[in-house]
Amino acid sequence: MLILGIETSCDETAAAVVRNGREVLSDVVASQIAVHSPYGGVVPELASRKHVENILPVISQALRAAGVGLKDVDALAVTQGPGLIGALLVGLSAAKGLAYALKKPICAVNHLEGHMEAAFVEAERPEEPFVCLVVSGGHTALYYVTHDGTAQCVGSTRDDAAGEAYDKVAKLLGLGYPGGVVIDRLAQNGNPEAFSFPKAYLEKSSLDFSFSGIKTAVAYFVKKYGLPSETSSVATYRLEDLAASFQEAVVEVLVEKTMLAVERFGVRHVAVAGGVAANSRLRARLQEEAAYRRAHLYIPHIRYCTDNAVMVAVAGYRIWKRRGFHGDPLQLDARSRWVDAAGP
Ligand code: KG4
Ligand code: ZN
Repeated sequence: MLILGIETSCDETAAAVVRNGREVLSDVVASQIAVHSPYGGVVPELASRKHVENILPVISQALRAAGVGLKDVDALAVTQGPGLIGALLVGLSAAKGLAYALKKPICAVNHLEGHMEAAFVEAERPEEPFVCLVVSGGHTALYYVTHDGTAQCVGSTRDDAAGEAYDKVAKLLGLGYPGGVVIDRLAQNGNPEAFSFPKAYLEKSSLDFSFSGIKTAVAYFVKKYGLPSETSSVATYRLEDLAASFQEAVVEVLVEKTMLAVERFGVRHVAVAGGVAANSRLRARLQEEAAYRRAHLYIPHIRYCTDNAVMVAVAGYRIWKRRGFHGDPLQLDARSRWVDAAGP
């Protein structure tokens, strides 16, 4: 079964062709970083306009790269939410138009379920139950995927998402947008123990997260000590050390809460997905802690951590297998919020 996946929930216009939920024939992502970076974050209206420009060329490119035509596609899978409403509408409208014209079924995909499925593009999906951490720019949540494949949200952030904290701290440090990858790179040459930033564990047994405190702590730090790059400043520290210390506090909380969930639910499999799953320190620490507990870690290739349409096509295939190969109604609407995310 050949599925054309379409993703436009935030600032990437993406399309991909995937066969039988595993074989990736093409994977096209048009990034809008250049559009949004002058503003230090995504400007929703600009994102929508850029999606309108990009969506058809990106779909054509995905088909061409896969060596298939529209008539060869058996079905469409598209992100319905959560995300920026204007951005979602572009992908959804394109998918609906194609589905109508081609008389092919369409499957609405939850973006977070898409992220989760990215962990199983290259690895065999484990038997449920398992635990999954979805950690991105818009979301930070822990899911317990039960025997019947239902994903229950068992913990989530009470304020900022982890990626949001990375992006806000990067903006504060004048490192541009998106900041996660820049901080990750700087931190590789820094001392994570140089400074001690607050790690928000919340209540001892809680699987929730909080990242706004650490962002504020970095803001106070910079107010007090200035930035090393400012020639007039009196800063006497290395930006690399600040990046590494900030990162350590974020990563340790993510790892600790994920392992708490692994232990609480007694699972042998743990998956991690979303943009922040691309972080080198998080990947290394999760490997260590999972190995220590003899749990199997599923973590997507870096390419599939950030937003892409392969994960949408894979999630669509799984949804279809679960409920039968019939489409969603074409009246379906975009959903900016979609709380109880993934699962049937
Ligand atoms: O999944 P994603 O592409 O979009 C959302 O659904 O939010 O995630 C984007 C987020 C951004 O906040 C970005 O800074 C972060 O993922 N990110 C990283 C890294 N690469 C991307 N954060 C930390 N380290 C990275 N290497
Ligand atoms: Zn995402």
